[in-house]
Amino acid sequence: MGGTGIEHFELTDQRVISVETPYGTVEPMIGKLAKHDLVFMSRHGRDHATPPHLVNYRGNIWALRELGVRKIVATAAVGSLSPNHHLGELVLLDQFLDFTKSRPLTFYEGGQQGVLHVDMTEPYCSSVRQVIIEAAKHLGLVVKNGACYVCTEGPRFETPAEIRMFQLLGADLVGMTSVPEAVLARELGMCYASIGMVTNEAAGIADHPLNHAEVMQNLKELEMNVAQLIQTTFEL
Ligand code: HPA
Repeated sequence: MGGTGIEHFELTDQRVISVETPYGTVEPMIGKLAKHDLVFMSRHGRDHATPPHLVNYRGNIWALRELGVRKIVATAAVGSLSPNHHLGELVLLDQFLDFTKSRPLTFYEGGQQGVLHVDMTEPYCSSVRQVIIEAAKHLGLVVKNGACYVCTEGPRFETPAEIRMFQLLGADLVGMTSVPEAVLARELGMCYASIGMVTNEAAGIADHPLNHAEVMQNLKELEMNVAQLIQTTFEL
């Protein structure tokens, strides 16, 4: 699942397909990587036009399940709230705080769909994370394992007061997409891990206002490492 900055991924025999879901049509790419059949989904759509609060999270995750996906490696652009995490780092998420406000949260809306209270003791898949860490060692890349992600609604960046509150609550990284994506994957029984790509210091920590261009520029520099990391993860 490619986030901002990871809109394309090279696969063998790749082609774009249309998948009908109860939440609309989504158009992932399918192909092969090493010995695996792989689906590449651009979270924000193929033309990257959809902002975080309007992403079709349910359609995307439903389509992956429909295609037989069992394990998801996602990427997420993040700002750092913590002195332990610096610009240009790759960090595997291990907990989240949910500060979203207006998104569908679940596939289980009651009635015919029933009700499900899914367990979130370990929100991100530790076995997939372990393979990513092995891939990183293989490549000589530093990838930290474990950080608490706070998910904001966006699309605006946070205020410095919000960032101070999130620090008090124990958040390390801030982004706008991991919730409900990680939750929906869990609801459909898929093992979901996410690689945080630190693109900026969070608002009020940086000595200048945040801007999307800075985030995109820093993502560009991380792009190749992440592509290699994902490739090696699937080759191991
Ligand atoms: N805040 C929210 N989302 C983000 C940030 C940020 O600072 N950087 C990248 N995605």
